[in-house]
Amino acid sequence: MTLIVTGGAGFIGSNFIFHIMEKYPNYRVVCLDKLTYAGNLSTLAPVMKNKNFRFVKADICDRDAVFALFEEEKPDVVVNFAAESHVDRSIEEPGIFLQTNIMGTATLMDACRKFGIKRFHQVSTDEVYGDLPLDRPDLFFTEQTPIHTSSPYSSSKAAADLLALAYYRTYGLAVSVSRCSNNYGPYHFPEKLIPLMIANALNNKPLPVYGKGENVRDWLYVEDHCKAIDLIIHKGRAGEVYNIGGHNEMKNIDIVKIICKELNKPESLITFVADRKGHDMRYAIDPSKIHRELGWLPETKFEDGIKKTIEWYLSNREWWETIISGEYKEYYEKMYGNR
Ligand code: NAD
Ligand code: TYD
Repeated sequence: MTLIVTGGAGFIGSNFIFHIMEKYPNYRVVCLDKLTYAGNLSTLAPVMKNKNFRFVKADICDRDAVFALFEEEKPDVVVNFAAESHVDRSIEEPGIFLQTNIMGTATLMDACRKFGIKRFHQVSTDEVYGDLPLDRPDLFFTEQTPIHTSSPYSSSKAAADLLALAYYRTYGLAVSVSRCSNNYGPYHFPEKLIPLMIANALNNKPLPVYGKGENVRDWLYVEDHCKAIDLIIHKGRAGEVYNIGGHNEMKNIDIVKIICKELNKPESLITFVADRKGHDMRYAIDPSKIHRELGWLPETKFEDGIKKTIEWYLSNREWWETIISGEYKEYYEKMYGNR
């Protein structure tokens, strides 16, 4: 079995590669990644010398490079994690999101059509459903919830989902799509809420909470997401969408307070800053389909997952300190300097 994993030098993709290579030591895993600001080759150091692993630096939009790799590797399964993934960056610069997230997905699926494939899996997000009101805790996103996006990021992901389902219907390509809630865990790029707050707190820097911090996200430990994708590519039905989420809704402000407490830092570091434009209020996944059909359930409780995550950031300081001392500094200044 040969898997091509795109975006495997990023947060979830790298965790997925570790999961697959440990569970299926005979599988060949080929990681295709452009190594954008969010991709980090050092993350893949634990598998780099494994004879069943290959890293290829390429852009999923580069048709020649993608087709050449498919011709060479003849993959059975392709799992597409490669994406521009940060909402705030999409608000500043939508173009690259449309290019990578939509055109890149189309290019990969064209290669799948040409060279044949058992499964193309598109890793998507609950953000394609838009948001839910805070005063309706009875509402959850199901796979039938209409697509209703808010940001250029979520719109580009929704477009890719629709294209994937269209390739299933029109060309009979064996496609599946998963829409997951917010992940957290090791190797999470420090522009995102949890790692940003951990890094800032450790450096005694202000903790910038958007608006009032009342927005709710449904947090899932990254390993649980990887296990869900593993189940879908092996046992899930082609042409189907599966929601993945942990029924673990939390307000941003509460997450930041937990991080302060775990790191023994004062809550006075918390600074309320200007809200994100078009900021989604609440995400909440109904994961009953993947539970019913594939037996998936989240295994890591938030109180354990957040402790493991914080411990990981404490014992892997070099990984994130290298990142935040590079071009990230300019990004931080631009996004937070006058906020
Ligand atoms: P990430 O930003 O950490 O990693 C993205 C990876 O894709 C990086 O390694 C980057 O180099 C690579 N990449 C970007 N553009 C590329 C291109 N044109 N060609 C090849 N490689 C390219 O992202 P993540 O948080 O690991 O998210 C992975 C996927 O999961 C994304 O598709 C995202 O939409 C989806 N998702 C993320 C979350 C979350 O909470 N992080 C939740 C649900 C879904
Ligand atoms: P983020 O990690 O960017 O994920 P997403 O926007 O995909 O849900 O943000 C999670 C939540 O945290 C979101 O409501 C925005 C908020 N947030 C802050 O309050 N401050 C920050 O510095 C960041 C990065 C996010």
